[in-house]
Order: sequence, then structure tokens, then C-alpha cells
Amino acid sequence: TDIAWLTTHDPAHALPAGVDAAASGVGRHGAEVSRGLADAWLVVDSGRVAAVGTGSTPPTDQRVSLGGRSVLPGFVDSHTHMVFAGDRSAEFTARMAGQPYAAGGIATTIGATRSAMDEDLRAALAGRVAEARAAGITTLEIKSGYAATPEGESRLLRLAREVTPHTTYLGAHVVPPEHAADPAGYVSLVTGEMLDACAPLSGSVDVFCEEGAFDADQSREVLRAGMAKGLAGRVHANQLGEGPGVRLAVELGCASADHCTYLAGEDVEALAGASTVATLLPATDFSTRQAYPDGRRLVDAGATVALATNCNPGSSYTTSMSFVIALAVRDCHLTLPEAVWSATAGGARSLGVDDVGHLRVGARADMVVLDAPSPDHLAYRPGVPLIAATVVGGDVVAG
Ligand code: NIG
Repeated sequence: TDIAWLTTHDPAHALPAGVDAAASGVGRHGAEVSRGLADAWLVVDSGRVAAVGTGSTPPTDQRVSLGGRSVLPGFVDSHTHMVFAGDRSAEFTARMAGQPYAAGGIATTIGATRSAMDEDLRAALAGRVAEARAAGITTLEIKSGYAATPEGESRLLRLAREVTPHTTYLGAHVVPPEHAADPAGYVSLVTGEMLDACAPLSGSVDVFCEEGAFDADQSREVLRAGMAKGLAGRVHANQLGEGPGVRLAVELGCASADHCTYLAGEDVEALAGASTVATLLPATDFSTRQAYPDGRRLVDAGATVALATNCNPGSSYTTSMSFVIALAVRDCHLTLPEAVWSATAGGARSLGVDDVGHLRVGARADMVVLDAPSPDHLAYRPGVPLIAATVVGGDVVAG
């Protein structure tokens, strides 16, 4: 009987937008996400949400009073590249001095990762996962993509599987230097031997559809091959300029089109009528000093929007979903409740899971406790460590 109370007991502050979104069963973005429950309580039983309410609390075995703090569903980070070796801070410094982001830097990480020992990759990954947990992330997707060989990509996926069930095969990240003269041959490898090695270790297949990486035809081939093996499709789309990525993701019924920084009207229209989630990664646009994606336009058009960190050593080395939410509010023009929804339920949509990203009865008891009277503080107090505790399945895992 591992029942616990989580109470906020502070009717003076209207808050937990997350608890509210959870309790009211919101689908897409809408007015409902903006209501919070004041003086709220939540009962956890066997790692799941057993009841949510306000006012006087029912009797339980244990009780934790949160003293007016906010409770949100745990963050769902649906896009990361966390298994890697090496450091590319010099690239960031060069960008701040005026250099553009070059996806070619991915090859630098491929080199460092290929020569790293399993135990070094595992230790580095464990450090990043602990950082993510402390940042309130309770569900995590991790991609391969920094090996570009059948053995190497499957090694990265095996390591990722040790820490999360949400793994994505990204053999088609860039064409590695040894295949530069024969990109078609590399696509055959990605859709053949490499896919055979990686599909059993993955839930999704991903491709970087961008000039300098893979074009529309190559991307279609990669996605079709992976999806034919039962993997969900994901696309790195429209990150560095307008292009075919978003429309390809929608055409193939992919779970998610990620980045969506440069969108034409037809891309927005395609996403508006699709089940494909538009996953925004504004920490990337911060670190690469690009324009930010227009989240407002997407939400207003009716698209389903997720937010993720894109934790990777090149374009976005952060695990802070709070930072991502602040950017989404400040620069992508989402409201705070919309941003919280996108960082929780939106990410869950992208990963195809329905028992996380909200706190309705039956959900896994994954929560973020904020040391703040309302979730607005996530954007109002940027850079301040407000995550007082992270709870997974009813257990405090950080804080
Ligand atoms: O999502 N754009 C492709 N992949 C990553 C960047 C990886 C890197 O620079 O190492 C991204 O931004």
C-alpha cells in the first residue's frame, strides 16, 4: 500500500496547470490547458495516479505536503542524441563569433564516439540521464546516429536501451567520410544490413532530411524501409532552411517532424491536418543562433506541437526542459500552459504513449515539483533551478 498524498494546500495561488491539463483530459492545445487546480491533491497507488482533487483530502497511508508548490506531469523529452563521446564547445564559440552551424560537425562526434569504449559511453550517458532527471524529465527518447556502421549504431542503441525503452535508429544522420564518394551505397547500407542490426533495438527510425545530409528521395527510402519493419517514422525536418522534410513526414504518416524552424505555408497546412506531431527544439535555434520556429502559427493552425531538448554535443547541449519552455514562451510565442502541454503531453503524443505526459487517473505517477507558486515561473524566472523534485512511478528520483 504505497499510497501517498501530494498536496499543495495554498488556495491563494492558482496553479498546477499540469495537474489541470492532466485532470481534464485535454486533447490538442486548447483553452482547457490554461486552467490550474488550486489547493489540489493527488493520490498515488502502486506507482499510478489513483485520484486527483481539490479541497479536503481523503485518508491515506502516507502524506507529503508540498506547501503551495506547483506540480506538473513529468517532462517528456521526445528528441535527444545522448549517447556520444567528445566535446564540441569550440564550435559553439566559433558560432558566437559569426560562423554558421555546420552539420559537418556531426562527423567529429562520429569519430570520437567510434573510438570510445563501452564503459566510457555508458558513464557519460548515465551522467546526462541524471542531469535530465534532475531537470524534471521522466520519459526520454534517445537516438543513435554517431557511429554510422551496423556494429556501431547497434552498440549505441544497446547502450540507450539500458536507460530508456524509447530508442530511435538514426543511421541516416550524415553520410560518414568513408562513404562520401558513394552516398547511394551508404543509403543501401542504412536500409539493409544496418537496419537489420538496429531494428530489433529500436522503436523508431529517423532521418536528417536536409541539404548536406539526405535528400527527399533518400529520406523516403530510409523511412519506408524502417517503417516496413514496424518502426515509427521521425524526420529531422526544415532545420536549416525550407525543404521537403515536413511534407515527407506527413506524407508517410510519421509520428513526428522535428525542428520545423523554416516552414512554408504548405508545411503548416500539412501539419495542421495530420497526426504527425510538430516537435520544436528551440534550444537548438538558441545555440545555432537561428530564427526560432513559429509555434504560435502552428498551434493556431491546429497542429499538435511538442517541445524537446535535442540534447546533443553539436547543436543543443542542454537537458533543461525549463530552458526550452522559457524559449518557447519568449521566442516561439506559445503561452505558458501551451508550452507545458507541449513539453509533457505533446512529447507523449510524439512517442505514441498515453500513460505519461498527464496526471489523469491511471497515469504513471511521473511528476515535477516546482519550487514556485505557479508554473509561469518556468519562463518568468529563466535559469533559476526551480525543480524541487522529480517523481517517477511515485518514487522521488531527484531532488
Ligand atoms: O538535431 N541535425 C541533426 N542532428 C542534430 C545535431 C547533431 C550534431 O550537431 O551533432 C540536431 O540538431
